[in-house]
Amino acid sequence: MTYPLLATVAAYLIGSLSFAVLVSRLMGLNDPRTYGSKNPGATNVLRSGSKAAAIITLLLDAFKGWLPVMAVKWWGGAYGLGDGSVALVGLAAFLGHLYPVFFRFQGGKGVATAAGVILAFEPWLGLAALATWLIIAIFFRYSSLASIVTAVFAPAYFLLGNRVAWDAPGVQVLSLAVMGLLLVWRHSENINRLLAGTESKLGAKKK
Ligand code: G3P
Repeated sequence: MTYPLLATVAAYLIGSLSFAVLVSRLMGLNDPRTYGSKNPGATNVLRSGSKAAAIITLLLDAFKGWLPVMAVKWWGGAYGLGDGSVALVGLAAFLGHLYPVFFRFQGGKGVATAAGVILAFEPWLGLAALATWLIIAIFFRYSSLASIVTAVFAPAYFLLGNRVAWDAPGVQVLSLAVMGLLLVWRHSENINRLLAGTESKLGAKKK
């Protein structure tokens, strides 16, 4: 197995750890796939009423996106892994979250994991995305709307920021665009609920 393939498979396996399910199980909470939006993600875990479980889920889901990308950045050079591998590994971790091999390929929507990946791609981009998410979430109180808007803006920020610095790695822009498209697609039901005015607001509990 070549090193890029090995790194990609490892990232996919790490991404396949569905922390919403694991953390809920460890903390004695209901399985998030059985209540609320039924999505194994931090927003839905918050509907269980446990802020601690939601925050831990958020951090671990982000960490599993951040770690593989950083590992390639730190040590990949010695194994011939460059920008292409950084982009591929980030995408693989994200796809692991969406289609986890350990959970019958029934995963989440990828928001926290994508946040970890882009924070590892470029810290300034992660912060810009976080600021975008927070502004929309604070004003509109919809986690899904904040995620969708951020997914659309992140590739644009990246292009703009790197254009100014004259060093845009095209493969990472592509990886971000694919993640953004998949992320919006995974929010199809949320979009329908937003349009119908039935989407649940942040902080609302749902059984
Ligand atoms: O993290 C996913 C978020 O954007 C929406 O989650 O549970 O409201 O579908 P949820």
